[in-house]
Amino acid sequence: MTELLEPRAIGRALTRRDGPAKVTGTAPYAYEAPVEHAAYCHPVQAAIARGRCTRVGTVEAESLEGVLRVLTPFTAERLADTEDAELAVLQDREVPFRGSVLALVVAESPETARQASALVEIDYDRDEAEVELRADRDDLYKPEKVNPSFPTDTDEGDVDTALRESEVTVDQTYTTAMYHNNPLEPHTTTALWEDDTLTLWDSTQGVHPVRGTVAKVFGLPEEQVRVICPYVGGGFGSKGTAHVHVVLAALAARGVPGRPVKLALTRQQMFSLAGYRTPTIQRMRLGAGRDGRLTVLRLDVVEQTSRIKEFAEQTALPARMMYATPNRRTSHRLAALDVPVPSWMRAPGECPGMFGPEVAMDELAYELDLDPVELRVRNEPERDPETGNPFSSRNLVECLRTGADEFGWADRDPRPGVRRDGRWLVGTGVAASVYPARRQPGSVAVLRFENGRYTAEIGAADLGTGAWTVLPQIAADALGVPVEDVDVRIGDTEQPKATVAGGSTGTASWGSTLVAAAEAFRDKYGDDPGDGDEVSAETPENPDEDRYAMYAFGAQFAEARVDADTGEVRVARLHGTFAAGRIVNPRTARSQFLGGMTMGLSMALHEHSLLDPRFGHVVNHDLAEYHIAANADVLDLKADWLDEVDPHLNPMGSKGVGEIGIVGTAAAVANAVFHATGVRVRDLPITLDKLL
Ligand code: MOS
Repeated sequence: MTELLEPRAIGRALTRRDGPAKVTGTAPYAYEAPVEHAAYCHPVQAAIARGRCTRVGTVEAESLEGVLRVLTPFTAERLADTEDAELAVLQDREVPFRGSVLALVVAESPETARQASALVEIDYDRDEAEVELRADRDDLYKPEKVNPSFPTDTDEGDVDTALRESEVTVDQTYTTAMYHNNPLEPHTTTALWEDDTLTLWDSTQGVHPVRGTVAKVFGLPEEQVRVICPYVGGGFGSKGTAHVHVVLAALAARGVPGRPVKLALTRQQMFSLAGYRTPTIQRMRLGAGRDGRLTVLRLDVVEQTSRIKEFAEQTALPARMMYATPNRRTSHRLAALDVPVPSWMRAPGECPGMFGPEVAMDELAYELDLDPVELRVRNEPERDPETGNPFSSRNLVECLRTGADEFGWADRDPRPGVRRDGRWLVGTGVAASVYPARRQPGSVAVLRFENGRYTAEIGAADLGTGAWTVLPQIAADALGVPVEDVDVRIGDTEQPKATVAGGSTGTASWGSTLVAAAEAFRDKYGDDPGDGDEVSAETPENPDEDRYAMYAFGAQFAEARVDADTGEVRVARLHGTFAAGRIVNPRTARSQFLGGMTMGLSMALHEHSLLDPRFGHVVNHDLAEYHIAANADVLDLKADWLDEVDPHLNPMGSKGVGEIGIVGTAAAVANAVFHATGVRVRDLPITLDKLL
């Protein structure tokens, strides 16, 4: 058990501390770094999917007025470390995927850099490229582990016999599309070399992780790299690791010492250079008795990675712990293709991995003639099926019941395709949500008392999530002082090191560290500190870490309306009820839930990166054609939560809230669309052609 803080500031819906700076346009983002006389750069991307360049002609580009330099694989500086093939840019002539970077123009203005980039001439040797993911590829392989270090396959009981002998079975294949993170702020970096030190203003989810990566690539001690990022316009995981633009900006700046260089990826460039979510193919088999209890679950996932760097999305993970069953097998197989490098996107693993299973549960409910809420309740495990550990708290059933009440689920007529409201077919669907509640080790916080105020320093990141606002709430309660008396400083490697804002771990990790610092401060100075008193503390270990299975849960209810003639789908209502521990700030937490659910709605109906199988690039690589749910797509959207406090996680009693909102949403919508129409769509997105 962890000693919990007495919540005073925690639990209050305080407004965002960074709000005024953001809405008045005075919050400096990475591209707006306060530097003088900047140069600008623009990458030139490969137009073939595989091969090598035999010539990069720069004469014409370099003769354009205002062009300072054009870097090519033949002329660019050698990097100290090229182990990470994604970051080893301009180091050889190979083209590993369409859109990989083959030249970089540095110029006096962004317009000139972009214009000159079109004048760079590239000749290629083309090789045959493989860019198409299919479950019947003969080159699928078993990765050693899945992101970040989970077992690739699991097998318990006797799955084959159970599948043969179950009274009721479902055996279907579900697919999720390729998706691209599209934060409003693109990936941008401003880089400045002065002697042997490098300063980066980078739009990132973690200044210290970026520093570590860049220092390694350039062979510098970490102290010679400073990364600054007080504000971020979204990331969703795509800014959780340094991508190639950071290295490009630093390479360009190296050539003009003392002069800052700015790089902003265009929206189109983000579709090949900033990560994305792999498409998945999920064959899902369920067996159950007539009593509605699962006898067996099998999930086999096929997905892609890039040939140059492996990222294995952990899609089968939630199927390992969600429901009780004596027989269970899960697997992941990958195709390494000539495609850009996949990476983190909001709830990697859980997000795609709760689509197939949660639609399959709906199909099973129909087979059993059982309410889909009741089916889930009946298969609640008493302990974590995967580890055998008790759950630190598991309130899925209460989420389902409370959510059902608020949504008005009772007396639902289960028959599909029979409700009509004018031209609309109407249906409702449910799916469960889950996301691990973790704390990352390795942050440090400094607490100082000065001029009657407390300052907490920790190099954390606020990517729009609320860290600027909730960290003072936590520090204030830990110190026992009013939240108004606490300032925080985050987003700079000059501050003590902090872990990445990823895996919904930020508040738990940095908050636990702040609480440890506050305890150390009070131990040392009591309640009456003097000016300049200061302590630092590291993230404490959680003694309960290996004793409990720790997850947030949720239930999502959707009402779909489908135009009987055109197949147009509208999600009239989407209500989520979550159990995510103590909510540190209801305002910022609700925003996270709603944002996740909106992204899930977007995944259900709109988002789909279309890779041209002939040429290996995403053809709809901009916001005109890669449709993201807009306000007009979101109708009655509601997020609520149970009054849960988890005593095993951290002193706040909180769980992460950044990712769970996207988990299960697409399944809830797909299940509602089936209920409305009688058409079972198993391949996302649910576009009207699949309903007609
Ligand atoms: Mo999240 S995909 O861990 O930033």
